[in-house]
Amino acid sequence: MDMGFDLPGLLAARRGEGYELHARYLNPQLPRMLHAIGFDKVYERAQGAYLYDRDGNSYADFLAGFGVFGVGRNHPVVRAALHEVLDGDLADLVQFDTPLLPGLLGEQLLAKAPGLDRVYFCNSGTEAVEAALKFARYATGRPRIIYCDHAFHGLTTGSLSVNGAAEFRQGFDPLLPDARIPFGSLDALEAELRTGGVAALIVEPIQGKGVHVAPPGYLAAARKLLHDHGALLICDEVQTGLGRTGRFFAYQHDDVEPDMVTVAKALSGGFVPVGATLAKDWIFGKVYSSMDRVLVHDSTFGANAMAMAAGLAALAVIEDEQLVGNAERTGGALQAALAELVGEYEMLAGVRGRGLMIALEFSKPRSLKLRAGWNMLQAARRGLFAQMVVGMLFRRHRVLTQVAGDYMEVIKLLPPLTIGDTEVALFRDAFADVMEDAHQGGGLMWDFGRTLVKQAVSRPAASGPARG
Ligand SMILES: Cc1ncc(COP(=O)(O)O)c(C=O)c1O
Repeated sequence: MDMGFDLPGLLAARRGEGYELHARYLNPQLPRMLHAIGFDKVYERAQGAYLYDRDGNSYADFLAGFGVFGVGRNHPVVRAALHEVLDGDLADLVQFDTPLLPGLLGEQLLAKAPGLDRVYFCNSGTEAVEAALKFARYATGRPRIIYCDHAFHGLTTGSLSVNGAAEFRQGFDPLLPDARIPFGSLDALEAELRTGGVAALIVEPIQGKGVHVAPPGYLAAARKLLHDHGALLICDEVQTGLGRTGRFFAYQHDDVEPDMVTVAKALSGGFVPVGATLAKDWIFGKVYSSMDRVLVHDSTFGANAMAMAAGLAALAVIEDEQLVGNAERTGGALQAALAELVGEYEMLAGVRGRGLMIALEFSKPRSLKLRAGWNMLQAARRGLFAQMVVGMLFRRHRVLTQVAGDYMEVIKLLPPLTIGDTEVALFRDAFADVMEDAHQGGGLMWDFGRTLVKQAVSRPAASGPARG
């Protein structure tokens, strides 16, 4: 008998087949890589800062879906708002109307960004960046965009053109005519501006890759240089925005007003893909200069009701639970607790970041006993020590983290902004235990290191995940 579509029934019938189905029908390197680094779990449930597997084990989520879960997973306020949209029989995506929800979300986002006047809504971080690049080119009538070494702005072709990492770009040429400069260098910016034709600089106030913080005053000085040359400042806040760094936007650590700001990730409330490009009124005035041009840059799903409601609910949670302040306070406590370990473990070179965007950097040990292991990993691939630490945090302590970029001995912490003292202590103790083991120079940890080396040598794709 035909029972119609039964999602719970389908999921129960096919339980546990995810890895096999991915290997067969989707990107096969994902399951392969997860097996290689020992991350091949099946999660069944999630709440706040924790994931749970089918045996009921809990995992502390210091990855937060690459920064999506600012308000934590399955937040009841966001979930209730989405139920209300579903149950509301809304007239969504009419296209030839002006629904209330995007207007309300635009109003609220702009209230957090004094000096910016208008918002374009889309469906992801890279789309928010694409819009900013197009708007900058059209508004200035110039073709070139300057970007920084190690920058990550997404992987569609425009965003890829301003990606500062060769491993992402290679093989996709020719890209847009752009220019790369060192992050934080005003001299390089000025030199590039002098060559002419520059529409904008796009920059992450704190780079996701490696967690590099812009030098104090850099953004304000960059904006001045850009404006002196008739060019614009675009701050990409896709990862750093919505409280992550202890300010609503990370550029607000500096005294600067960008011309455009991109947002995505945490605005989703962890449920519905969304992106937004905030801009000055005059930029919209140019791009959308007449009724004929009303759809000149647009996206079918851009301002859909589910995304807008998720965004409004996420902003309400950030406000009600004072998550910006919590990110600053808890992030400060976590950084301080980790900084204390730097003197204790010679391979821990430093802790950096802002709020709850934190990097731990490793470096070559001084003692001969440890050098052999370090050198073995380095010979196979730079970054494998960091991958080994990420692997051990996960295997031994069920703490989910990531390496901060390819070929970097850096791990990155990006937990939900809701974490508190319990998670600070949990992470600190887990990390100290893993460091202790690494500095013993033997045992299970280095066995895992040798497995990583074998995998890195025999199949390079399997040596670890690295996103912006
Ligand atoms: C700073 C920054 N910009 C843009 C993006 C791209 O966002 P998405 O993956 O939603 O396209 C990312 C993603 O990690 C990011 O960190």
